[in-house]
Amino acid sequence: PVDHVDDGQQFDFVLVTHRIPVHGRPDAVAGGAWTYSPVGVDAILGEEVGVRNGAWVGWSWQPGESVRSAALGRVHLRSIELSDREIEWHKEGYCNSTLWPIYHDSIERPEFHRDWRDAHRVVNRRYADAVTRVAAPGAVVWVHDYQLQLVPAMLRALRPDLRIGFFLHIAQPPVELFGQLPEREETLRGLLGADLVGFQHPRGVSNFLRLCTELLGLEVGTDSVVVDGRRVRVEAHPISVDVAAIEEVVNRPRITRRAAQIRAELGNPRTLLVGIDRLDYTKGIEQRLLAYGELLDGGQLSADSSAFLQVATLSRENLARYALLRERVDRLAGHLNASYGRMGNPVVHYTNRVLDRDEIMALYVAADVMVVTPLRDGMNLVSKEYVASRVDNRGVLVLSEFAGAAHELSEALLVNPNDVDDLKNAVLRAVAMSPAEQGRRMEVMRKHVREHDAQAWVDGFLKDLG
Ligand code: G6P
Repeated sequence: PVDHVDDGQQFDFVLVTHRIPVHGRPDAVAGGAWTYSPVGVDAILGEEVGVRNGAWVGWSWQPGESVRSAALGRVHLRSIELSDREIEWHKEGYCNSTLWPIYHDSIERPEFHRDWRDAHRVVNRRYADAVTRVAAPGAVVWVHDYQLQLVPAMLRALRPDLRIGFFLHIAQPPVELFGQLPEREETLRGLLGADLVGFQHPRGVSNFLRLCTELLGLEVGTDSVVVDGRRVRVEAHPISVDVAAIEEVVNRPRITRRAAQIRAELGNPRTLLVGIDRLDYTKGIEQRLLAYGELLDGGQLSADSSAFLQVATLSRENLARYALLRERVDRLAGHLNASYGRMGNPVVHYTNRVLDRDEIMALYVAADVMVVTPLRDGMNLVSKEYVASRVDNRGVLVLSEFAGAAHELSEALLVNPNDVDDLKNAVLRAVAMSPAEQGRRMEVMRKHVREHDAQAWVDGFLKDLG
């Protein structure tokens, strides 16, 4: 594939993510329509790039498209390309079928193929090359997530003048899982090319330090590793959400009206339970629907008094295990409706549609109980967004203890999603919780996310990167 165009401009700050947040045809340079549309974390990162007049390097999702740079405001986008084969071997293969399962407790069995690994190396090298061309001498470069773990070491070899940070958005597994990876040492050494390696959770830090000792025999401290005479800092920087932006949106009359309308469309249930996820086997969607089904079956909840709304956005659809998961969840939702719903009044409202940001905010406002039950999740921003959206301090969060967010949102009802009885009890407790207790718990959690919002995450990481 054609590599990214070199227009000669260099920047003191370079953000590197797997993809850049663009939609449409990437021909903005030629005056066409390339919509830069970051939401959530991407929006915060984009603001930072803009404030620093920096560059954002990533894949533009458009196989075969060949335009590569654009300045949208003060965010200078620099896209790299992946061939169809690279999308198959690097992204769908190595990233989503080797690394993703290993980093999620091997819930699904990881696959190992040398072709995938080779494509992964080539692609990581392409990102590193792109960065070297746009990074000014001494620039700060912030690399993100599991798809790009080899980039820091490649960058250091090419450009020792750079200040390199890396942040892993998913959970760093312990040696018992990570040790399965044939490229375990290469991956660790890839990360150790950075000056600062950030994780979501303190356990990510301890897992990583132990990996460095056990697999590489390196000398480690409590928050650093010494490698090739350099000290690499290793820290927890839990990611967060833009609380002010969420509060502003949910206070708009249009959103509160829409929330009331959603409840009415669902038959005004006394309790509306909501789940919002990517359709992924790590998210525990089946577990939560099973628990809800058993509560209906046992008569503890009824179709008249409750409804479950599950949004599961399609993801990684080319991969067989995601297609199989989709079939299972379809069947489960259908089974619950056939058993407990009435004509024209389903008990599970299930959609795979992509909802826009306002609609998601309205759903948060409408939800009495937010059910977030991943089997493993680096952080889970849905849980933090829900908390941020509850400006009236009402609502209950049922949260898996295996989500990174559980470390911070301790006033949620924490559950082990593998334990159906535990899940059922938590849902029942949530349904019955008094407004006073809801208010007490939600206030504590809201205070936490307000004090630890997305901007604080960016500032904290970049300050420590120096
Ligand atoms: C997770 C990862 C992201 C990834 C996203 C969607 O949130 O942390 O890095 O982009 O899933 O997965 P996909 O494979 O479609 O990029």
